Amino acid sequence: MELLLKNIGLLATPTGSAAKKGIEQGEITLIENAMVGIKGGKIAYAGPADESLKADETIDCEGRLVTPGLVDSHTHLVFGGWRQKEFPLKLAGVSYLDILKAGGGILSTVEHTRAAKEEALVEKGKIHLKEMLGLGVTTCEAKSGYGLNTEHELKQLRVIKRLDEIQPVDIVPTFMGAHAFPKEFADDREGYIKYLIDNMLPAVAEQGLAEFCDIFCETAVFTPEESRRILLAAAELGLKPKAHADEIDPIGGAEMAAEVSAISAEHLIQASDRGIGSMAKSGVIAVLLPATSFYLDKPYARARDMINAGVAVAISTDFNPGSTPSLNMQFAMNLACLKYKLTPAEALTAATLNGAAAIDRAAKCGSIEAGKQADIVIWEAEDLEYIFYRYGSNLAHMVIKDGVPVMQRKECPTC
Ligand code: NIG
Ligand code: FE
Repeated sequence: MELLLKNIGLLATPTGSAAKKGIEQGEITLIENAMVGIKGGKIAYAGPADESLKADETIDCEGRLVTPGLVDSHTHLVFGGWRQKEFPLKLAGVSYLDILKAGGGILSTVEHTRAAKEEALVEKGKIHLKEMLGLGVTTCEAKSGYGLNTEHELKQLRVIKRLDEIQPVDIVPTFMGAHAFPKEFADDREGYIKYLIDNMLPAVAEQGLAEFCDIFCETAVFTPEESRRILLAAAELGLKPKAHADEIDPIGGAEMAAEVSAISAEHLIQASDRGIGSMAKSGVIAVLLPATSFYLDKPYARARDMINAGVAVAISTDFNPGSTPSLNMQFAMNLACLKYKLTPAEALTAATLNGAAAIDRAAKCGSIEAGKQADIVIWEAEDLEYIFYRYGSNLAHMVIKDGVPVMQRKECPTC
C-alpha cells in the first residue's frame, strides 16, 4: 500500500456503483475506528482498523470524520465577467426571467464570455476549481451555454477540457447551447434551434468535447417540445440528455426529461406529482440546487416527496454568475438538510454517490470502496451531523484526489 489513513474516528460512505433511491438513499456505511488504504490512486482497503496493514506513508486522521470527495454534478463553471450590477435590481424585486427578457441575465454573461480570450477563461476557471477543491469537491460537471454560437460554445468546451487536464478536480463536460436564445436570433426561435441542431451539435460531437447535452426548459426559454427535439438530436450524436426542468414554472419539464430518458433533471422546484412519478418510472436522477432557491428567494424543491416516490436525489451548487454566485458545496449540503429536510446520511449520498451517478461516474467515484478512485475528504469533525450543522465555515481538513493529498487546511482557528 502507498498510503494508509489511520485513526479515522468515523468513516461515512454510501456504497455501490449506482444511484441510491428511496429508503436506500439514507442507508450509508458507518465504521468507527476505521482505516483506508490506497494503492495506485485507488482505494485498496476501506474498513475497520487493521494493524497488519502496512504502507509507505501514513496519515493520522486523529479521530476525524472521513467521507468520499464531494461531487458537484451541476455547474456553469466557465464564464466571462460577473453580474453584481444586477444585484440591486434583484433586491428591488425584478424577477430572474424579467432581467433575462430585458437582455440582461444569461445574455449579459454571453457578451462577456464571447469577448473573453480562451486563456483568460482558463485562468479564471483555475481559481474557482482551487476553491472548490479546498471545500472538498473532487469531481464536478461543467456546462457550456454562454457562447450560444458554434465558435464560442466550442471555445468554452475547450476551456473545460484544458481545465480538466491541468488541475486535480475531474471535470465532466456538458454542452448547453440551448441555454437561451442569443440576440442574433431574438426574433427567430426556429432559426436558432435549426442552427443548434444542424451546426453546433455536430461540431461538438465531432470534436468529442462534451459527454452530455443540457437545455433550459422553461417559460420564455425552450418549451418541452423544443427541448425534446434538441435532446433527441443530441442523443443521436451520442450526447446523453440532461435538462434544467420546472425551475420557475411547472411546464412539464420533468415529464419531458423522463420521455427522452435523460440521465438527470435539474432544479425541479415546481415539478408536478406527475413529473415526479414519471422520473421515478424512468430512473431519472433529480439534481436539486438548494443554493439557487436560496439566492433567487424561491421555494425549495420537494426532495422528500421525490425520495418517497423512489427518485434518486443528488444535490449540487449550480455555480454560475446569475442565479447562484456560490461554488460552496458545503453550503448546498447544509441547505439540503435545513430546507429539504434530508437526513445527514441522505444528504451525504446526494452530494457524493448520487451526484456521481447523475454524471455517469458512479462506477469510479462517489464512495469509499475498494477499486474506486481514492477521492477523500478528512473533515474537521468527529461525526457526520457536525458538517451539516455547522454552516458558513469550510470544515474540510484535508482533501485527497486520486490518492494524493492536494489540499490541507492551514493552522487557522477561524477558517
Ligand atoms: O441553472 N437556469 C438556467 N441557467 C442557470 C443560470 C445561468 C445564469 O443566470 O447565468 C441556472 O440557474
Ligand atoms: Fe444550472
